[in-house]
Amino acid sequence: MIQQWFDLSGRVALVTGAGANGGNGHAIARALAEAGADLFIGDIDEEGAKETAREIQARDHQSVAFRCDNGNPDDIVAMFAELDRVYGRIDILVNNVSIGHRSRPEDLSLADWQKVIRVNLDGTFLCSQQAGRRMIRQGRGGSIVNISSIAGSSALGRGNFVYSVTKGGINQLTRELAVEWAPYKIRVNAIQPAQILTPALKRLFQDPQLDAEKTRKRMLTGIPLDRFGEPADIAKATLFLVSDAADFITGHLLPVDGGSLALNAGGSKVWPKNE
Ligand SMILES: NC(=O)c1ccc[n+]([C@@H]2O[C@H](COP(=O)([O-])OP(=O)(O)OC[C@H]3O[C@@H](n4cnc5c(N)ncnc54)[C@H](O)[C@@H]3O)[C@@H](O)[C@H]2O)c1
Repeated sequence: MIQQWFDLSGRVALVTGAGANGGNGHAIARALAEAGADLFIGDIDEEGAKETAREIQARDHQSVAFRCDNGNPDDIVAMFAELDRVYGRIDILVNNVSIGHRSRPEDLSLADWQKVIRVNLDGTFLCSQQAGRRMIRQGRGGSIVNISSIAGSSALGRGNFVYSVTKGGINQLTRELAVEWAPYKIRVNAIQPAQILTPALKRLFQDPQLDAEKTRKRMLTGIPLDRFGEPADIAKATLFLVSDAADFITGHLLPVDGGSLALNAGGSKVWPKNE
């Protein structure tokens, strides 16, 4: 029975930002394929998307790659048209793409603000709408998972202003769609990762403006489980939320954060005596 709860055989899953770069989307796509789903891989990096599709095919699962810039509404429409052509159905959508732009709020230009809003919020809205329309028409329900961040519920500081604002928006988009689409048995949930060891985080540690060791230490003081996350941690939680094991769960924001949000910004994991 337990295997049945997690079995995705016969379902089609579209994962955005799932190019083969060792990031969260890459790990999610591979995990959903392993659970039996047929995969549709979207990414602005065409070669990366093709590589993930090849990896999945090499394990005898079906997978198709498509170049899509989530900041371009026409690309999103074209991606869903290709999905219709190849599979003719969709059961699972994982909105994984997000970008950031680090800047002090007082220095952030409107153009940079709009660029992040366009990719993170417009892109998540439009992909959800395209998937939702199809799921409603199909009449078989479906599952949408949005990869949000702890930044959607808690301020990060350090110039993450517009990124955090979009993650707050994604959290609310998740709740609204969960309620609007519950009558169609479409479940909509979000995952809130803390720092995960993906290329994006590794790039941050290489930023010459930052002292990498200090940054790592400071980040870890906010994670009670005392380690950074791995993309597999996000893949495991996504598999749970899209599967039948979670079929009474919708509108939920699931932190996958080693206890970071539980600790909260004002807390400390160290007892004064041990300091
Ligand atoms: N890594 C972390 O510490 C962390 C923490 C919290 C939340 N998250 C979230 O997890 C998700 C994935 O993050 P990651 O760290 O794996 O990112 P990443 O930068 O390592 O990978 C992102 C992927 O998205 C693709 N991409 C970038 N811009 C795109 C666009 N405009 N259109 C389509 N594809 C695009 C890239 O080519 C890449 O394959 C994001 O939503 C991010 O906010 C990550």
